Amino acid sequence: MVKEVMSQINRSATHMRATILANKRVGQYHQIVFGIGDLVKSCRPGNFVAISVGGDSSRMILRRAFAISRVSENASFGGTMELIAAPHGSGSKWLCSQIEGSEVDIILPLGTAFGIPTSPVNALLVGGGYGSAPLFGLAEVLKARGCKVDMLLGASTSAKIYAPMEGKRSVNSLKIYTEDGTMGELGRVTEPIKVLIEQKAIDVIYSCGPMGMLRAISELTANTDVVHQCAVEEAMACGIGICMTCVLPVKGEDGQISMLRSCIDGPVMDGSQVQWHLVGQVPEVNL
Ligand SMILES: Cc1cc2nc3c(=O)[nH]c(=O)nc-3n(C[C@H](O)[C@H](O)[C@H](O)COP(=O)(O)OP(=O)(O)OC[C@H]3O[C@@H](n4cnc5c(N)ncnc54)[C@H](O)[C@@H]3O)c2cc1C
Ligand code: FES
Repeated sequence: MVKEVMSQINRSATHMRATILANKRVGQYHQIVFGIGDLVKSCRPGNFVAISVGGDSSRMILRRAFAISRVSENASFGGTMELIAAPHGSGSKWLCSQIEGSEVDIILPLGTAFGIPTSPVNALLVGGGYGSAPLFGLAEVLKARGCKVDMLLGASTSAKIYAPMEGKRSVNSLKIYTEDGTMGELGRVTEPIKVLIEQKAIDVIYSCGPMGMLRAISELTANTDVVHQCAVEEAMACGIGICMTCVLPVKGEDGQISMLRSCIDGPVMDGSQVQWHLVGQVPEVNL
């Protein structure tokens, strides 16, 4: 049965034109910094932004979603927000080509955030490709709460690993895995997780990356006490809860499966509730 759940767009969401303060190429990615003023106070690790791409004369219809990598308050620029963008198709290539001083039409912050424990826990952060983007900001918040933070990053090849030097300081340990062995250990980032859960007495796994990786982590944590909070990256057309293209099957506390919009009820979800085996299927509806 499909239950309709009406959730609200992030209450702090604001539509604005933000100036690009810096745009630097890092490996296969672009690290882009925007001036967003006081809105930094409303941005939480896990939230994302929806950017109108293509410019005033050739605007593309669909906004593009990007995870907020980190926010900070800077004496010279005020509140700043950083994104890590992969120049992939026409929209993300347009964004990566924008120079310092350009203005971009943006809605932020959107979606849910990672839950932050009230007392110190042992946390494992797992990022795939640009999925590491929100994890460094999250690591800083967890460390400030007294948590022990270990991080695993994985990608197909070294150029797709995003691991800034300053980010490494915010974690207790960082291990990198590439599928072609060009950086760190050879193999998939999910391989060491089972052993690490035991060795490091992990309480919570926070993950962000491809859906296959999130599903694999949910399978590893099933039937354990480890909480798995994952930031899903289901394709989004509107990003603000209108179009229903981003729905995922999620089991609620009552045992019923609902199709939840990952732009509003996510992107951060409880990995144990997502019905990974049903993703992409059209569910049965009781009329
Ligand atoms: C929550 C979230 C966070 C993300 N964070 C990052 C990040 O930090 N860095 C990064 O590089 N990328 C991120 N992405 C991916 C990024 O949004 C896409 O790479 C980008 O939208 C691709 O746009 P494009 O124009 O480059 O590619 P194109 O392939 O030309 O995209 C065309 C547009 O069509 C939409 N689309 C395609 N298929 C479907 C479908 N089946 N249903 C609905 N819409 C569809 C896409 O969402 C996109 O808006 C994130 C995506 C999500 C959902
Ligand atoms: S992307 Fe349109 S409802 Fe989620």
